[in-house]
Amino acid sequence: MVFNIRLMCQEDLTQVNEIDHEAFPTLWPPPNYQRELNNGLAHYIVACDDEIEYKPPEPPEDAPQKGSSGLLGRLRLLFNHHQPSNNEAPPKAQDYVYGFAGLWLLAGEAHITNIAVREKYRRRGIGELLLISMIELALELGAHLVTLEVRASNTDAQSLYAKYGFVRVGLRRGYYTDNREDGVLMTIENVTSAPVQANLRQLKQAHARRWRMTAHIISH
Ligand SMILES: CC(C)(COP(=O)(O)OP(=O)(O)OC[C@H]1O[C@@H](n2cnc3c(N)ncnc32)[C@H](O)[C@@H]1OP(=O)(O)O)[C@@H](O)C(=O)NCCC(=O)NCCS
Repeated sequence: MVFNIRLMCQEDLTQVNEIDHEAFPTLWPPPNYQRELNNGLAHYIVACDDEIEYKPPEPPEDAPQKGSSGLLGRLRLLFNHHQPSNNEAPPKAQDYVYGFAGLWLLAGEAHITNIAVREKYRRRGIGELLLISMIELALELGAHLVTLEVRASNTDAQSLYAKYGFVRVGLRRGYYTDNREDGVLMTIENVTSAPVQANLRQLKQAHARRWRMTAHIISH
């Protein structure tokens, strides 16, 4: 399987919000990814496929047609404003996004803010691919440490981080505002050191062998 790993862009926001909502349904308000796009400290990536086109979920049959109800909608219909004219370019096809991840770089420390994979594509190595890419991005940005918080109950994600050398370094009591759950603080210190780098190289090779996955890193 071939994945493109690239920086998140405006066109990805619908899918990123969709994935976020599925992965973190109790998080309210949800992160404002539009704002993150304009935040100089934030760096988000997506794992996507440009050969599969994203199709937004169909609205339920009895849902009112978007834009056709209300005064504005009726006016649009009346004046045909919403119909693309013959010489108007059709909307650009959107790459299918499987998952995304983000970090903030603060004083040489990369704080991973999020990592999520669409539920139906989990357990196929995509989370790992995103984490590898996040660590590589952190290194490119000059980070010496990579850190994150994870819910105490989220043992799946903790296993992923532990596999990549994150060590539990603390507990933030009641860190999550929705249910006052504790946040486990996990960190890879000295991420540029030779032993950490050697371990990452090995894990990356093992991941590539196991999943026969090719990742094209696309830089803008
Ligand atoms: C955490 C998450 C990103 C992992 O993505 P994924 O694509 O399923 O992960 P991978 O297939 O790459 O798995 C990599 C490793 O993660 C761990 N892992 C992932 N899912 C697991 C599960 N259900 N049970 C146990 N370990 C799991 C394992 O260590 C696994 O390595 P292994 O295959 O050698 O056992 C995904 O489960 C997800 O999106 N969860 C919801 C969002 C979330 O909790 N994000 C983390 C916030 S801190």
